[in-house]
Amino acid sequence: MTAIGIAMTGSGAAVPPIAFDNHQLSHIVETSDEWIATRTGIRARHIAKGDRAVTDLAAGAARHALQMAELAPEKVDLIVLATSTPDDLFGSASVVQAAIGAKQAVAFDLTAACSGFLFAVVTAAQFIRTGTYQNAVVIGADVLSRWVDWDDRRTCVLFGDGAGAVVLQADDRDRLLGYELRSDGSQNDCLNLPFGGTEKSLTDGVAVSQGTYRPVVMNGQEVYKFAVKKVPEVIEKALFRANLTPEAIDWLLLHQANQRILDAVAKRLRIDGEKVVSNLSKYGNTSAASIPIALDEWVRSGQIQPGQIVASSGFGAGLTWGAAIFEWGR
Ligand code: UT7
Repeated sequence: MTAIGIAMTGSGAAVPPIAFDNHQLSHIVETSDEWIATRTGIRARHIAKGDRAVTDLAAGAARHALQMAELAPEKVDLIVLATSTPDDLFGSASVVQAAIGAKQAVAFDLTAACSGFLFAVVTAAQFIRTGTYQNAVVIGADVLSRWVDWDDRRTCVLFGDGAGAVVLQADDRDRLLGYELRSDGSQNDCLNLPFGGTEKSLTDGVAVSQGTYRPVVMNGQEVYKFAVKKVPEVIEKALFRANLTPEAIDWLLLHQANQRILDAVAKRLRIDGEKVVSNLSKYGNTSAASIPIALDEWVRSGQIQPGQIVASSGFGAGLTWGAAIFEWGR
């Protein structure tokens, strides 16, 4: 079989209109703009409302990405929606498929928390490389505002809502240069959004657990240490697979969790601060959406140019982490 390459030909993003800044947050929990900005770099986040928020944001981001790629929705073969906060536990990707008019596409959700977008890009890439599909839309969308405890200042200040998307297309030359994905379930308890049921007896000896999910709990310091250690390692592994060294990187595009993590990873890899993509001051941590939202902003502002090398890494709950090295555009 002839090797089929992958090109990233479009990006898009959508965030809810309502912005919520640190000063406003300080009226809800005991915190301050100074604490949040110094510890994380975050100044504001956008908050979604409504039961279809993930679907609406994901569809908006996908439409923008398709427009940039100049690809008609009917030509899309595959939609992968990375989300931990679907509107429907059975999946939200099919609703996105219908909303954007991608009639021929198969669509499914993928859950890998803040690593979800990168895991979804690599998943979609396998379908393209085998020749099964030619055109894929990969979306990262999360509405964690539904699931944080708004009384817990350790977590509620960190997260925001949004969606980002890319179009991946089969091409003669492969621009997905290298990747590496990792998981470590032994550290799962560092960051959870767990189901918390109560037992309900149906009949003698038969009981079920019913309920809903409990708010996000995180051991921030452990996740911080994990990120600063594992992200440089996984980027180096992906660079090795791409036969590149850190000097080749034009842009370092990390999951937007904390400015201190971005700076520490850049320092470890000896990457100049000007090459570090960062927009978390405006959006906070948007989980699976953060990488494609930042990518779209840098592409649309003309900073990321076709042919440039982007080193991207996602990390978070699972624990999961991964990196992908790609050349933007076609
Ligand atoms: O997307 C998934 C990946 N997630 C991450 O990458 C998150 C990684 N972790 C982090 O980014 C950081 O650990 C945090 C930003 C979550 C926390 O920063 P930290 O420097 O590790 O702070 P800390 O948890 O050690 O807390 C320091 C102090 C504590 O007070 P005491 O015990 O020293 O008196 C906290 O109670 O800051 C207090 N604190 C706050 N104060 C004001 C915690 N949250 C707040 C707050 N406002 N929002």
